Amino acid sequence: MKVILKISEMQKYSAAMKKQGKTIALVPTMGCLHEGHLKLVDKAAACAEIVVVSIFVNPTQFGPKEDLSRYPRPVEKDLALCRKRGADAVFLPSADEMYDKDSSTWIEETMLSRGLCGKSRPGHFRGVTTIVAKLFNAALPDIAVFGKKDYQQAQVIRRMVRDLNFPVKIVLHETVRENDGLALSSRNTYLSQEERKNALSIRRSLKSAKSAILKGGKNVGLIRKSIISGISSAGGKIDYVEIVDAGNLEPAGKLSGNILIAIAAFFGRTRLIDNIEINRN
Ligand code: PAJ
Repeated sequence: MKVILKISEMQKYSAAMKKQGKTIALVPTMGCLHEGHLKLVDKAAACAEIVVVSIFVNPTQFGPKEDLSRYPRPVEKDLALCRKRGADAVFLPSADEMYDKDSSTWIEETMLSRGLCGKSRPGHFRGVTTIVAKLFNAALPDIAVFGKKDYQQAQVIRRMVRDLNFPVKIVLHETVRENDGLALSSRNTYLSQEERKNALSIRRSLKSAKSAILKGGKNVGLIRKSIISGISSAGGKIDYVEIVDAGNLEPAGKLSGNILIAIAAFFGRTRLIDNIEINRN
C-alpha cells in the first residue's frame, strides 16, 4: 500500500493507474477509522480496481468552538487498518499541503446545506464541499463512497458533483452500527460509559418514531415531541430534531413520501448525529 503525502504525487499515481485502464474509487475520511469507514473501503473495492483512502482532518469544516484540536489522529493505526482492508493507496496530506496560507477560493452549495447541521454549524458544509472538491482534484477518482450516517453531507456532495459536472459517481453506504444500535463515529471515543449508554436513546427514539409513522401516525409535531422527550429524558441535549423531505431536506409538512428524520444531540460535550429514512407512499 502506498502512502502519499503530496497532491502532485497523488495526481501522478492516479494518472498512472488510469493510463493502465484501471478505475479508481476514493473514500474520503478524517481518520480515526472504525468499521463504518472500513465498510466504505469494502464497497469501494467492490466498485473499482484501485481503492484510495484519504485521511485529512479538514480544519475549514470545524467551527471556532469545535473539536479540531482534540479530534483523534491515530495515524499509524489507521494506516494498518487500511493496509489490512486492502486499500491500494492512502492520501495523507498535511494542512499546509492542502491549503495555501492565502487560499481564497471556496465551493459552496446553497440549498441542501442550509438546514439541519448547516444551521447549527455555520460554514461547515462550505468547508466540506471545498475539501471534497480538492480531494477529487488530487485523487482523480471515477467513484467516491460516502456514508448515510452523514446523510445531509452525502446529499450536498451529490448536488455539488451534479452542479459542477465532476466526472465522479457518488456511491452511498448504509450507516454501520454497533450491535446495540449506536451509529459508529470517530467521536464515540469521547463518550464516557454513562454517556454512551444514554446515547442509545437516539436510535431508540428514531426507531419508535418510524414505527409510529408506519402505523399511520400523521402528526409531525407529536412525533417530533416524542423524540425530543426520549432523548432529553436520557440526558441528551438536543441540537435539532427535524423531520424533512428526504430529497430536498426541507421540513416535511405531511408524513408521506420519502421522509428523513435527522437528529443532532449532545451527550456531555460530544455532539452525535444520526438519522432514519422512512418510505411511506
Ligand atoms: P468522517 O467523519 O471521517 O467520515 C468519512 C466517511 O465515513 C463519510 O462518508 C461518513 O459518512 C462515513 N461514515 C462515518 N461513520 C459511518 C457509519 N457509522 N456508517 C457508515 N458510514 C460512516 O465525513 C467526513 O469524515 C468528512 O466530512 C469528509 C467527507 C472526509 C470531508 O472532510
